[in-house]
Amino acid sequence: MSLQGKRVVVVGGTSGIGLATAKAFLEESAQVVIASRSSARLDEAKNLLGQDVEGYELDFRNDESVADFFKNVGNFDHLVVTAGEGTMGLFKELPVENAKEAFDSKFWGQYATVLAALPYLNDESSITLTSGVYGQRPPQGASTLAAINSAVDGLVRGLAIELSPMRVNVVSPGIVDTPIYAGMPEDQREGMFKGIADQLPVKRIAQPEDIAQSYVYLAKNGFTTGSVVDIDGGARLI
Ligand SMILES: NC(=O)c1ccc[n+]([C@@H]2O[C@H](COP(=O)([O-])OP(=O)(O)OC[C@H]3O[C@@H](n4cnc5c(N)ncnc54)[C@H](OP(=O)(O)O)[C@@H]3O)[C@@H](O)[C@H]2O)c1
Repeated sequence: MSLQGKRVVVVGGTSGIGLATAKAFLEESAQVVIASRSSARLDEAKNLLGQDVEGYELDFRNDESVADFFKNVGNFDHLVVTAGEGTMGLFKELPVENAKEAFDSKFWGQYATVLAALPYLNDESSITLTSGVYGQRPPQGASTLAAINSAVDGLVRGLAIELSPMRVNVVSPGIVDTPIYAGMPEDQREGMFKGIADQLPVKRIAQPEDIAQSYVYLAKNGFTTGSVVDIDGGARLI
C-alpha cells in the first residue's frame, strides 16, 4: 500500500523515535503532521524535517487538548503515537502517585488519542501505538513499565477487533538511543548502553531510525492488525 500523499499524524513526532518516524514517512512521500507539548521542540523538528510538515502543540494527557488537536488537523489516514513518559523504580519504593502519572501519560494518553482520532480516520486507516520490551522482559525497577506496556499491547488486540476494518498495531522497541535518557549523566548513560549492547545478540542498542521503519511497515501492510512488532535486538531471547 503506497503512502504517497497520505496524511500521517505522529503524536510525539518532535523527538527520538517519533522524529525519526516522521522523517521515514516523509521519505515515503506522505504528508506529515507532528505534535507534542513543547513549541521549541516543534520548531526544531520542523527545521529538521522541512516546513511542509504541520506542527501542533498538544499535551495528550488532556482530553480537551486532544479533541482540539484533531479538530484542527481534520481528516487523515494513519495515526502513530510515540509520545509517552514512563517511570522506573522498585515496586516497594516507587510512590504510587508516580506509577499513576506514568499510566496517565503512556497508557491513558495513547488511549485518549485513539478515541479522539476516530472520527477523522477511515476504513483504510491504520493506528500504531508504542509499548516496549519491558512489557515482556522487565529488569529490576520496571514493574510499572511492564504493566503499562502490557496494557498497551492488550489494548491494541482489543481495538483490532472493535475498530475493524481499520488496522491497529503496536511497536515494542528495545533500548533506543534517544533524548529520553538525556536526564542521565553522560558516563552513566554510555555505560548503560554499552552494558546492554554487549548482552544483545545484535551487539548494539537501537538508533531511532531502526524503530521508525516498523511504523512505516505497519502503515503500509494492509494484512497486519492486532500485532505487536518486537524490535529489540533480540532482548527477549537473553
Ligand atoms: N528510547 C527507548 O529506549 C525506548 C524503549 C522502549 C520504549 N520506548 C518508548 O518509545 C516511545 C518514544 O520514546 P523516545 O525514546 O522516542 O522518547 P523521547 O525522545 O523523549 O520522545 C518523546 C516524545 O513524546 C512527546 N511527549 C511526551 N509527553 C507528551 C505528552 N504528554 N503529550 C504530547 N507529547 C508528549 C515529547 O515531546 P514534548 O516533550 O515536546 O511533549 C517527544 O516528542 C515512548 O513511549 C517510550 O516509552 C522507548
